[in-house]
Amino acid sequence: MTAAKVGVDDATVYVPKLYLDMEEFAERRHLDPDHIKKGIGMLQMAIPDNYEDAATMASDAALELIRRNGLQPSEIGRIYVGTETMEDKSKPVASKVVGMLEQVYGRDTFSHVDGVDHVFACIGGTYALENTLDWIRSGRNRGKAGIVIATDVAKYELNSDGEYTQGAGAVAMLVKEEPRLIEIEESVGSCTKHERDFFKPLDREHPVVDGKYSIAVYLDAMKTAYLGFAKDFVERSRPPLTKDSALSDFADYFTYHLPFPEMATQAAAYYFIHEWRDLARWKDIERETGPLPPRKDYSVNELLSEDYRAFRKKFTSSSAFRNVYASKVYPSTLAGRRIGNTYCASIYIGFLGLTESQAEAGAELTGKRVGFASYGSGCSAKVFSGVYQEGVKEIIKKMNLFTQLDLRKRISFEDYETLHKSRPCEAESVLEPHSEFAINMVGKGKFDYGFRYYDFAS
Ligand SMILES: CC(C)(COP(=O)(O)OP(=O)(O)OC[C@H]1O[C@@H](n2cnc3c(N)ncnc32)[C@H](O)[C@@H]1OP(=O)(O)O)[C@@H](O)C(=O)NCCC(=O)NCCS
Repeated sequence: MTAAKVGVDDATVYVPKLYLDMEEFAERRHLDPDHIKKGIGMLQMAIPDNYEDAATMASDAALELIRRNGLQPSEIGRIYVGTETMEDKSKPVASKVVGMLEQVYGRDTFSHVDGVDHVFACIGGTYALENTLDWIRSGRNRGKAGIVIATDVAKYELNSDGEYTQGAGAVAMLVKEEPRLIEIEESVGSCTKHERDFFKPLDREHPVVDGKYSIAVYLDAMKTAYLGFAKDFVERSRPPLTKDSALSDFADYFTYHLPFPEMATQAAAYYFIHEWRDLARWKDIERETGPLPPRKDYSVNELLSEDYRAFRKKFTSSSAFRNVYASKVYPSTLAGRRIGNTYCASIYIGFLGLTESQAEAGAELTGKRVGFASYGSGCSAKVFSGVYQEGVKEIIKKMNLFTQLDLRKRISFEDYETLHKSRPCEAESVLEPHSEFAINMVGKGKFDYGFRYYDFAS
């Protein structure tokens, strides 16, 4: 008997209905628009309205997933959330999602589920997904499906370097046996370290970020995770490697955690340099780039050095890199360019943008392999892979990520700054909530101080 395939059966995205155009942002902050649009890769930034938070976005995505698949609450065994946008030091977003779904389905309809948050910067959603895949593989799900939600509001201080990378959004994934969208293969490579690249002290509203250092730590942690993945994948799956083939030749697409869209160029460059440098094809590449500088102490600082940066620039201009980037990496950055950073959700929004855009371009996705590279500051990285299933053809008919983006309202820079500074229910919302969850009150009493009350605005 062959073991059942386990993976993501369907997935939905919720993106706030407001956005700021980055051309206007650059002009108002006196920045070079090409730095923001080409260097960082940001064209538009999703802005949550005053009535929404990570929990409403998570619930909106989950409700659409449940409705679209005609699921009964009794068919769902767990709701696991990955987020780093907690409004509470104790209560998980997962419990708020249960409460909001029960407003639509009725009291206690979801009280049987197992629900908790996974918190580790931008990788919490991946831990929630891995945990849920294992729950199903172990058979402890007893035929029930899991819903995994990645939801975040990426918010930095006004006028900081991180400001032009902000965004918000949520992804809800239906995880089950014999998935229609993508089977997640069993090999996973992991890395966990104690780092200070990005963190959120409890007494600060915004994160403390060492942006450039964070990029180097991301790459270094990803390398460790990838090496673990590669070893396990080769042992388990035995791809027909020859002395001139790289494991990346067996992947058709890649999707990365994207703190900003052009991070994919940096991560892919680092990966392909190290995958290809011992292969016969490298001679052709060096003809275009000149020699790769020798590595000295293999430290994170070396990744920040001028030598490495200069070589990376030449490498990313080489025809070999441009071809692999355009066909295997770029499609997963398309949605992020119009949304911005969504922390835990970014890798999965990238995956869904890749799926929808490739399907629209006429690509045959069934059987194609996707490499996932997930990162959370502080830090942890995970690398794993998935294979599109036949059912992807049915799933993409109902995907509407890019339509959702087209239908949003552009807001002014003044409205953006007002929303950035305001707390829920303290200022007017730009839009009236419609067919979605909304914060309708924040408690002020002795026993509900700070408690957020939510409603479904029909
Ligand atoms: C990531 C971050 C450090 C970038 O900051 P930054 O100061 O804008 O970075 P740079 O000035 O190096 O600019 C980024 C790119 O834009 C390019 N650029 C600048 N001006 C440009 C222009 N006019 N046209 C095209 N590209 C331009 C730069 O060359 C650079 O590309 P390179 O890295 O290939 O050299 C900052 O956005 C940040 O702190 N982000 C939050 C945390 C984060 O993203 N962490 C990452 C890991 S999770």
